[in-house]
Amino acid sequence: MKKIKFTETVLRDAQQSLIATRMSFDDFEPVLAELDKAGYYSLECWGGATFDSCLRYLNEDPWERLRKIRKACPNTKLQMLLRGQNLLGYKHYPDDVVRKFVAKSVENGIDIIRIFDALNDVRNIEVAVDQTIKSGAHASGTICFTLSPVHNIESYIKLAKDMENMGVHSICIKDMAGIMSPKEAYDLVKALKENTKLPIILHTHSTTGLAAMTLQKAAEAGVDVIDTAISCMSGGTSQFATETMNYVLTQQGYETGLDTDVLKNINDFFKPVRAKALESGLLNPVVLATDTDALGYQVPGGMLSNLVAQLTAQNKMDKFEEVLQEVPRVRADMGYPPLVTPMSQMVGVQATQNVLLGKYKNVSKDVRSYLKGEYGKAPAPVSPELLKQVLGDEKPIEGRFADTLAPAFEAAKAELGSKAKSDEDVLSYIAFPMQAEAFFEKRDELERNTFKYTIREVKEED
Ligand code: CO
Repeated sequence: MKKIKFTETVLRDAQQSLIATRMSFDDFEPVLAELDKAGYYSLECWGGATFDSCLRYLNEDPWERLRKIRKACPNTKLQMLLRGQNLLGYKHYPDDVVRKFVAKSVENGIDIIRIFDALNDVRNIEVAVDQTIKSGAHASGTICFTLSPVHNIESYIKLAKDMENMGVHSICIKDMAGIMSPKEAYDLVKALKENTKLPIILHTHSTTGLAAMTLQKAAEAGVDVIDTAISCMSGGTSQFATETMNYVLTQQGYETGLDTDVLKNINDFFKPVRAKALESGLLNPVVLATDTDALGYQVPGGMLSNLVAQLTAQNKMDKFEEVLQEVPRVRADMGYPPLVTPMSQMVGVQATQNVLLGKYKNVSKDVRSYLKGEYGKAPAPVSPELLKQVLGDEKPIEGRFADTLAPAFEAAKAELGSKAKSDEDVLSYIAFPMQAEAFFEKRDELERNTFKYTIREVKEED
């Protein structure tokens, strides 16, 4: 029998895409036992924006959240998304921090780490992959899918083979913008199946309306795992619906391992969560609609809305079309980076500035760092004129940027002193210094209050 497995994204990408990652542990705690029974390949529940959101908005310790999910879901593989050498942020960290972060993630309950680099530069995922393997977890090497003259089946096969040689346990195709067509999915999955021995996973978004067809064709090409979201948290900028894909694929003779009764319980649980989010405005109906603009412009939906916001703020929406035409030119000059965070923001801002102020009259600090090679190797050569104009006689670095960074874990630990209660705290601080410190203070205060309360309780009992 043909087999296909499912990764449920409701606790990470679905809520990140629809409600800005604002679901707290208490919000989903009651459904964890059901999620554990559904028969998923994995539960994507950590990494990405969840970590930052816990500290910044939810006053939660992200590590504590992970341990609690682990305890409530002993039978299901827990999965996280990691931005390679960037961990959960936008800048590269030194190797000691990357190794410690990966080791601690596994120690606290993660089974599968999906590791990607925004430029598909394998040097930027090497250390995270190596440490994942050494920690005894599953390393999923990830291809950021994008369309450009230098991205094609051959380049993706080469990337997958490089990752296979690195020892990854699976390959994930990550279509972060939801622009992968059914034909592209079929051809790429087939090529990867033919050229590697590894299981292939497909991650896409419903944004442009392609997802269901794309997942179907990927299944026909032999994809091993697909990412979906429980139906009432699916669609729009989120993933396509778990139950629908399960229904369709089961009918075609695929064994999915999913229990439809349990899926129904999970969906029933999230219905009021969704209703509440719609009512409060946290969930904007706009993100649930199909938006085909990304197909025509070949830029992700999130990037389009950023451009609109920038231009509106400057009262220059009349330049929108001009900026959109500038985007592919900037991208070409920059060597065709995939339009994923942080590259999509850099390209978008640069295109806007080129139109409003003149071609490369103003170049952001981030683009300068990129041209210096601090984000990794561009997929294609960067325009020599742009390099000359921005860097002058300064030469871009040849090697891996992280090699130029001094170890940072011990120094951060010493700096924090007694504010950090664990190595996990130190890692939270390195990843998000301000948010983590504010969180530690609130936590301390809470502990002091709890302590006072306890003493009072004891006195009363006396
Ligand atoms: Co995604």
